[in-house]
Amino acid sequence: MCVPVVEPRALACSLKARAGGWKMKDVERLFCVAPMMDWTDRHCRAFHRALTRHALLYTEMLTADAVLHGDRERLLGFSQIEHPLALQLGGSDPAKIAEASRIAAALGYDEINLNIGCPSDRVQAGRFGACLMREPDLVAALWTAAQGAAPAIPVTIKCRIGVDEQEPREALFALVDKASAEGCGTFIVHARKAWLSGLSPKENRDVPPLDYDLVRTLKRERPDLKIILNGGLRDLDHALAESAGLDGAMLGRAAYQNPASLLEVDARVFGATPPSTSRIEAVERHIPYIETMLARGVPLHAMTRHILGLFNAQPGGRAWRRVLSEQAVRAGAEVQVVRTALAQVSLRTQQAA
Ligand SMILES: Cc1cc2nc3c(=O)[nH]c(=O)nc-3n(C[C@H](O)[C@H](O)[C@H](O)COP(=O)(O)O)c2cc1C
Repeated sequence: MCVPVVEPRALACSLKARAGGWKMKDVERLFCVAPMMDWTDRHCRAFHRALTRHALLYTEMLTADAVLHGDRERLLGFSQIEHPLALQLGGSDPAKIAEASRIAAALGYDEINLNIGCPSDRVQAGRFGACLMREPDLVAALWTAAQGAAPAIPVTIKCRIGVDEQEPREALFALVDKASAEGCGTFIVHARKAWLSGLSPKENRDVPPLDYDLVRTLKRERPDLKIILNGGLRDLDHALAESAGLDGAMLGRAAYQNPASLLEVDARVFGATPPSTSRIEAVERHIPYIETMLARGVPLHAMTRHILGLFNAQPGGRAWRRVLSEQAVRAGAEVQVVRTALAQVSLRTQQAA
């Protein structure tokens, strides 16, 4: 079975499923926006598409149980403009992960990613996320189950470099070697440990020290694998510098908090024309999406909360934020609020020129 590539990609990479040597859908991961709970929902991702066509976007983590038993349209629905799009799954039961993967592939996701990095108590109680760094055999079984159920799209793993007392080189290599022996070809490595007791999830994104060198060592010693660097990358320059020699970089907080940085990604990373040439143009490009969603009953603030940071440190940035924060939360708020905020930015930009 051969799945055609949906969109032309500047640097298409060809992945082969081990079983049967099928050609899979190509997914380019030179630049990815990280999965972030409560942040990278569909409205955020649609907005990011006004800034970059080629970055690979990830959903928030969904548990396999939620995929199986939850409201599928609400949890899994996405717009076609969001491609290429990866669904991140969390779980520790291979049968459930397999079923969730089958559903995701049927819905048209371009990749499934397994979460082996989340340190929250809730996730630990479900015996998944970062605590699976201690169970490479189970991770390999989860990967095999997912890939077997969704053979036409790649299944990737996002992991840490270890947890608690683990020795990072041993823990990371053990996990990667077990999963790659089953055929997993792509690993996104958040280059710090998770400390499972004593730190909040937020602290676990900052406190354990970063070790980019270990990720580069992994690539050097396992050159056939695709290794994507994540964690603490401040901006595109930093990401490109630290991921040299690797297969890509994934940005989380920097991309969300400074979305304008995504305007540079298509040209600098993919050698392609960006969808918008300026912040203002990106908003104009995003407005039809907002109108469509308003017509479907989505409240305006559910969309504008993701665009608040677009004009940070720019003329009119404060007015943009103020108009949106004050007016988009009002009942029945319409897209005119966004236009009003944009007019403030245009005015301040002209005044500053
Ligand atoms: C608000 C928030 C929610 C997150 N949710 C997830 C998640 O659902 N799945 C996951 O693998 N990582 C999650 N992360 C971690 C990020 O994907 C990323 O690994 C981490 O923030 C480090 O990258 P950064 O320094 O570029 O932000 C989350 C991070 C943030 C800030």
